[in-house]
Amino acid sequence: MTPAPYRVRSRRPDRADTVTLTLEPVRGRCPAFLPGQFNMIYARGVGEIPISLSGRARSGALMHTIRAVGAVSHVLCDARPGDVVGLRGPYGTAWDVPAAAGLDVVVAAGGLGLAPLRTVLRELAAHRSRYGRISLIVGTRTPMTLLYPRELARWRKSHDVDVQVIVDHPDHAWQGPVGPVTRLIDRIVFQPRRTAAFVCGPEVMMRAVADNLVRRGVPAARVALSLERNMKCGVGRCGHCQLGPLLLCLDGPVVDYQRAARLLAVREL
Ligand SMILES: Cc1cc2nc3c(=O)[nH]c(=O)nc-3n(C[C@H](O)[C@H](O)[C@H](O)COP(=O)(O)OP(=O)(O)OC[C@H]3O[C@@H](n4cnc5c(N)ncnc54)[C@H](O)[C@@H]3O)c2cc1C
Ligand code: FES
Repeated sequence: MTPAPYRVRSRRPDRADTVTLTLEPVRGRCPAFLPGQFNMIYARGVGEIPISLSGRARSGALMHTIRAVGAVSHVLCDARPGDVVGLRGPYGTAWDVPAAAGLDVVVAAGGLGLAPLRTVLRELAAHRSRYGRISLIVGTRTPMTLLYPRELARWRKSHDVDVQVIVDHPDHAWQGPVGPVTRLIDRIVFQPRRTAAFVCGPEVMMRAVADNLVRRGVPAARVALSLERNMKCGVGRCGHCQLGPLLLCLDGPVVDYQRAARLLAVREL
C-alpha cells in the first residue's frame, strides 16, 4: 500500500486542462501492465487518486494523461520534469484485446476516455493482422479538446483504422459531424455478431454506445466498458468503489456489458 517514488521524466500538455506525464521509478524497473489498468498516484501532502495508464514510453516509463479537475489532479498536472510523485499499482481488470483476434473491433471514446483506450489502440496496431476491421469513434466537446490528434492520424494512415471524430460544439473551421458519438455508429462497418467493442467515457455515453451496439447484435459479453467510482484504497479494502456486488478497483474498472447493464440501470447505485 506504500507508494513507490516515481520521477516525472516528461510533461506534455495535451490541451488547456490536460497533460500527459511520463513517470519512471526512482529505483528499480517499471512494472508490467495491461490495457485498462490504473495506478494510484500520490501528490505529496495533497492526496492520492486513480489514474489509468495511457501508454508506455520507448524508455519503458509509464504514461498517464490527467485532467485537472480538483486538488490532487491540479497538483499532478502542474508537476515538472524532475519532480517526484508516489505511485502504486497497476490495479484492476484489463480490456481483453487478444480475445478480439479474428473479430471486427469497435473502439468508442468520449472525451478523456480516449486516454486509457490509447493502450488498446497501440496493442491493436502492434498486431494489426490479427484483427478484422478496426473502427475508432471519438466524441469530443470541441475540435480543440480532441486528444492525441497526431496519433489518430497515424492510426488512420499507417494501421488501417477507420478513425471518425464527432464534436458537441463545432468551431468555424470544423467540417465534420456534430452530435453524440452514437451517431458515428451508422458510419462504420462491422459484422455485429463477429465484433468486440471497447468503450470508455462518461457513463451516459457508454450506456448509449453499448445499448446501440447490443441492439445491432453485438453480444453484450463482448462489449467492455471502463466504469469509474470514487476510489480510496484501490485494493478492495475500503468499499468506496462499490457498484452493487462489484468493487470496481478489483472487479473493474473494465466490466462487460452483460454484467454492467443491470447495475447501470439502477439509479444512484
Ligand atoms: C479507475 C479510474 C481511472 C481514472 N483514470 C483517469 C485518467 O486517466 N485521467 C484522469 O484525469 N482522471 C482519471 N480518473 C478520474 C480521477 O481519478 C479524478 O478526476 C480524480 O480522483 C479527481 O481528484 P481531485 O482531487 O483532483 O479532484 P476532487 O477534488 O476529488 O474533485 C473535483 C471535481 O471533480 C469531480 N470528480 C472527481 N472524481 C471524478 C471522476 N472519477 N469522474 C468525473 N468527475 C470526478 C468531483 O465531483 C468534483 O466536482 C480515473 C478514475 C478512476 C476511478
Ligand atoms: S477503492 Fe477501496 S475497495 Fe475499491
